[in-house]
Amino acid sequence: MALTLARGARIVAATHNPGKAKELAALLEGRFQVVSAGELNLPEPDETETTFVGNAVLKARAAADRSGLIALADDSGMSVTALGGSPGIYSARWAGPGKDFAVAMDRVRERLEETGFEDLHAWFSCALAVAWPNGGPVVAVEGRVDGTLTFPPRGTRGFGYDPIFIPEGGTQTFGEMEPAAKDAISHRARAFAQLKAALFD
Ligand code: IMP
Repeated sequence: MALTLARGARIVAATHNPGKAKELAALLEGRFQVVSAGELNLPEPDETETTFVGNAVLKARAAADRSGLIALADDSGMSVTALGGSPGIYSARWAGPGKDFAVAMDRVRERLEETGFEDLHAWFSCALAVAWPNGGPVVAVEGRVDGTLTFPPRGTRGFGYDPIFIPEGGTQTFGEMEPAAKDAISHRARAFAQLKAALFD
């Protein structure tokens, strides 16, 4: 039997961040009843995998098995070609304990300076994983958007590394773009489109 996520299903968003749970719920278009791992007091697993998909699967698996519900998890970040894919899965961690992305963006600039700014290509990735409880199946997808880095950072919209990233074919950074314009082409939107095609009834 094909795996599908039926409308109205109760699913757990494997995040302890209320903002992210809301964002995931919005992307799911009100199709499901979404509760967050934080609300269910589920423990937060360490992200010990080496890929976005690996970490999304780990988080979805843990939440599904603990809650007995179908779980959705995401993992995302920015990878820089000239830095061998860094910060990648460490994107959030580069901002330090204060979660200061001015610091993280400056770290990217400093590291690129060491390479002579020859290659400014970067990409955002978003992995989404859905896991069924009791050791059931897992489905994972990954979306990506490629672009070019620019310094200094520009724009006050968005979050994280948005102010230094210009998507392919554009002139504005994600930090300058209308949120709807970013949402139309983002790694997250692309991952969701794949998930919908694979699982929604
Ligand atoms: P996660 O919450 O562990 O998936 O960490 C994702 C991190 O990657 C965030 O803290 C951001 O720094 C970065 N990131 C992911 N998606 C975006 C985006 O759309 N714009 C800017 N930064 C992003």
